[in-house]
Amino acid sequence: MLTVINTKLFEKKKTNIRPSPYPGDVLKLQMDVSFETETRLRIKIFDPVKKRFEVPFPVPKVKIQAKNPQYVFQTTPVGQLFHFNVSRIDPVTSKTSTILIRSSGTLVFADQFLQLSYFLPSNFIYGLGEHHGPLLHSTKWSKIPLWNKDHIPKDKLNLYGTHPFYQILEKNGKSHGVFLRNSNAMDIILQPSPAITWRPIGGIFDFYVFLGPTPADVVQQYTDVIGRPFMPPYWSLGFHLCRFGYPTANKTLSIMNRVRAAGIPQDVQWSDIDYAYKRRDFTFDSKKFGDLPGMVQEIHNRGMKYVLIIDPGIYAGPKKKSYIPYSLGMDMGIFINDSSGTKPLFGKVWPGITVFPDFTNPKTTKYWHILISKFHERVKFDGLWLDMNEISNFVTGSIDGCPKHSQLENPPYVPGIHGKVLRFATICTSAKQYLSTQYNLHNLYGLTETMVSYKVLAKIWNKRPFLISRSTFSGSGHYGGHWTGDNRAIATDMKASIADMINFNIFGIPMIGADICGFHLNTSRVLCQRWYQLGAFYPFSRSHNSLHLKDQDPAAFGKAFAESTRKAYLTRYSLLPYLYTLFYRSHVNGSTVVRPLFYEFPLDKKTYALDTQFLWGPALMFSPVLVPNELSVTAYFPRDIWYNFYTGKTVPSTSGYHVLEAPLDVINIHLRGGYILPLQDPELTTFRSRKNSFTLLVALNIKSKARGEIYWDDGDSLDSVTNNKNNLISFHAEKDFVKNEVIHKNYLLEPMILSNVTVFGLQAKPKVVFFNRHPVFFSYKNETKVLYVTKLKANLLDPFQLTWSLG
Ligand code: NOJ
Repeated sequence: MLTVINTKLFEKKKTNIRPSPYPGDVLKLQMDVSFETETRLRIKIFDPVKKRFEVPFPVPKVKIQAKNPQYVFQTTPVGQLFHFNVSRIDPVTSKTSTILIRSSGTLVFADQFLQLSYFLPSNFIYGLGEHHGPLLHSTKWSKIPLWNKDHIPKDKLNLYGTHPFYQILEKNGKSHGVFLRNSNAMDIILQPSPAITWRPIGGIFDFYVFLGPTPADVVQQYTDVIGRPFMPPYWSLGFHLCRFGYPTANKTLSIMNRVRAAGIPQDVQWSDIDYAYKRRDFTFDSKKFGDLPGMVQEIHNRGMKYVLIIDPGIYAGPKKKSYIPYSLGMDMGIFINDSSGTKPLFGKVWPGITVFPDFTNPKTTKYWHILISKFHERVKFDGLWLDMNEISNFVTGSIDGCPKHSQLENPPYVPGIHGKVLRFATICTSAKQYLSTQYNLHNLYGLTETMVSYKVLAKIWNKRPFLISRSTFSGSGHYGGHWTGDNRAIATDMKASIADMINFNIFGIPMIGADICGFHLNTSRVLCQRWYQLGAFYPFSRSHNSLHLKDQDPAAFGKAFAESTRKAYLTRYSLLPYLYTLFYRSHVNGSTVVRPLFYEFPLDKKTYALDTQFLWGPALMFSPVLVPNELSVTAYFPRDIWYNFYTGKTVPSTSGYHVLEAPLDVINIHLRGGYILPLQDPELTTFRSRKNSFTLLVALNIKSKARGEIYWDDGDSLDSVTNNKNNLISFHAEKDFVKNEVIHKNYLLEPMILSNVTVFGLQAKPKVVFFNRHPVFFSYKNETKVLYVTKLKANLLDPFQLTWSLG
């Protein structure tokens, strides 16, 4: 039994929960405080009498109260002014060290207006999305409204997804996080004191506090609650090419051909709504995309994959010619209804008049399964792109308007959102779904579509589904990835993609990227070249742009451009074993794939606002050029040993800013001492590169040590992790050796051959180098202090030891 340590009834008249001017004031509140784990506290404030809406997905059920929590919770007795606070206990001294939450002001809990404020321990606050802007929030009265919305990411207003989760760096470099599990529209206001106000317009207050103490711990603890990121198929780590406006299947193929001819790796070709007959889901245009199945076959013949778009708006045009997705949905009664609850709500999207499947209705899984599996019999796609699922609607509310006097359409308080009314560019908030109203469920639409699509694809394929959804909510990362929507081909949006990418890793959605070269506006050659260099290192690396704009595929700008893009992608492809291992770690432990520098250097204040550089895992730092024409970049190096990834040369001084040369065809990448990366020779597809032998890149730290690991499996089975059908090998280097430890080897269908070991930071040329006690060929570069051992042909799955003797 979970011991609820503090269940109280707060009677309004006895506390400072004063009557609010808002209708439907809740007169008595209950607060349940659960010490769920040593590092996780849950505080739930709700109406004990009348059940209100709560996010309808399971969270961990905890039966035993944590014995040695790293926090203290304090509140005032019933009848006194209501306050509470949460403090951190220092595990070494057992003393209360920092107050993380200190409530302030009056708690308001009315039917459509809830408000709670508290002081924060520092101004270093991150997360709270989806929003456009710098990584570090300003606490100078920043208002962050959350209400999923299809909108160009260009101001501080609400965007496609909702993530009511923040992470704070405390004064001493420790970190904690807070998640408000509430899906209603809300404003979050950050204030200079510093303080935060949460102002949802429905639901309850259901807070989780995660104690860290490291920044990385916080995300792990958060994803414990919302679900760990999905394990992506290996091919999805390759390059994806897309655009809105491929006129035909043939043209799509010809663009692919020129990318291939330029020697640029590509794993995945995408189709936007162009393929579909009159932009209707589950059809294809027989004139322009009549040979779509043939195109997909050709893509598969090349060892590549194909992803296509599906919008939730199902065409509901004239009944004369039956359109099965509509008639079937009507028969099954699975569309979102208008406020009457008896007939579908009609909106307008790309195909014209549309209805929208209600993914909270259990019957919709069957409906979606029928449509997807039937269509898949004709077009063998390998992944789905879930677009327009905020829900985006080209009319306000519905083609018939929305009820004028509904409370749900006219809440007494509307957060500071685009369009000023909730129904703007989406459906009526009075619309009815199986589980509740659109008012409550709106922010969950993208998540529910992704959940159902995941379930359906896993069933059809019995392989890992690949889904990229525009709209997300906390927990979406368990089922799919995200791209950052309709950015513009301007340098500021290229830069913003770094903060976005970091934020989505913090939100538990590491499969994240922006449209490379920009979606809106014609891109320019130099911007696009720089953007490919950066985008080649997005976890989800896709080029995409809008209708009627000029081509921006990597072969569209001539030879020199293609060559530099090729270089960037060959580097990416050589790093994929490392990237895949990071995804594995994120899947099993909830760690981030891309992370900000402060994750690794939380005591270094210069990293706190840094969003022009980023890390892959703990080891690899990217410093892209963000002012396209510049030929150098100023990069920050936290105190450590950093090696130029390409040459192994160390960065001269230990910490600080360095101006790095950045010719047009170069992105600066540095490897941190202390880490070992598994690499593979690149190819034009992952299908081929996976078959190549491995290189271990060892970067010694100041103590001449390094560690690393590789996770490997067949790349797309659903149960590779759960049934342990994989190989896990760790690597360890010290002064004069590198060795492996095979933790398990259960995937033996493909050999894992080790051919090269490169050691950065070996101070003198070895006299001899032995592999498993046999002398082996090596070379050493004095100017860079790098040892190269090649042509090994050893089985990585057998224990090995590479040793060297310096004299
Ligand atoms: C909106 C999406 O954000 C964009 O990427 C896509 O090209 C268009 N819809 C057309 O499907």
